Amino acid sequence: MNIIPEPAWISLLDELRRPSTKAILIGSSDSGKTTLARFLMNSFLKEDKTICFVDADIGQSTIGPPSTISMKIYRRPEDVADPSPDRMIFVGTFNPGKKIPEMINGTVRLVEEAQKEAIDLILIDTTGLISGNLGRALKTGKIKAVKPDHIIAIQRDRELEHILTLLKGYKIHRLIPSPHVKSRRREARIRYRDKRLREYFKESFLLEIPLNRTRLLYNGRIINHRVQYIKSGTLVGLNLNKNTLALGVVDQTAGDSLIVITPLKNTVVIDEVEIGDVTFENGITDTF
Ligand SMILES: Nc1ncnc2c1ncn2[C@@H]1O[C@H](COP(=O)(O)OP(=O)(O)OP(=O)(O)O)[C@@H](O)[C@H]1O
Ligand SMILES: [Mg+2]
Repeated sequence: MNIIPEPAWISLLDELRRPSTKAILIGSSDSGKTTLARFLMNSFLKEDKTICFVDADIGQSTIGPPSTISMKIYRRPEDVADPSPDRMIFVGTFNPGKKIPEMINGTVRLVEEAQKEAIDLILIDTTGLISGNLGRALKTGKIKAVKPDHIIAIQRDRELEHILTLLKGYKIHRLIPSPHVKSRRREARIRYRDKRLREYFKESFLLEIPLNRTRLLYNGRIINHRVQYIKSGTLVGLNLNKNTLALGVVDQTAGDSLIVITPLKNTVVIDEVEIGDVTFENGITDTF
């Protein structure tokens, strides 16, 4: 895609050039957040600067598969060609309003992880959920927890002001969307999400997970091994040390084991299965 930069992006870039900066992009769906993020990323890489991209858009994700928050550190322009995330955290839904605490905690954890490295810019892309109480709770909660040095707020009218007014003492850059933004209908968003999931599960295998050695979690809480209540087609996160190594889709339950379809190799150790809120009624093969 050919990105056409806005004049305001150039002065924004100047302000972000200071080392060890954290910036968060907020705006409604189709306001051009991800495109501006790409522009900033490309500009930093051209200047031999390192950038960490935290993709907190669990629906229209660009790094990890949908339903995850993910991050990747880019040190060279060639790194852009490798789509795999450095870390990801399974949230278990495509709807951010349903898991606000998990959305906030996951983003904070990945930002903290990035802060351990020498990074010139940590850039956080977010979902388009900005309206109403849910949008306000999600965005203000995330910003107060992440404490960014810069808030990049892209709005057509004043649709972000109910959020921005609650954020005192932050450096806020108010931008208008690029005239080149193309909006997508709901169906196109679902198609994009399905395509990402289809690609993700392209080379998957059946994996048997013995639950006497693996914790089962829902919403971050351990649940007892009532494995028979887990529906076939449920989307799950396969974790080690609270990092999601892969997604899986439940194929069936067998005794005290969970059999999932996943691209994760059976030699990889996991210590946790996080049950998601999404179920593919027709299983993974017929859904995608
Ligand atoms: N400056 C630009 N130059 C060229 N095309 C653009 C530009 N900004 C946006 N677009 C087009 O508009 C589309 C939507 O923009 P983008 O994906 O950046 O929005 P978003 O706010 O991230 O949306 P979402 O909430 O769905 O993640 C892009 O796929 C791209 O095709
Ligand atoms: Mg986006």
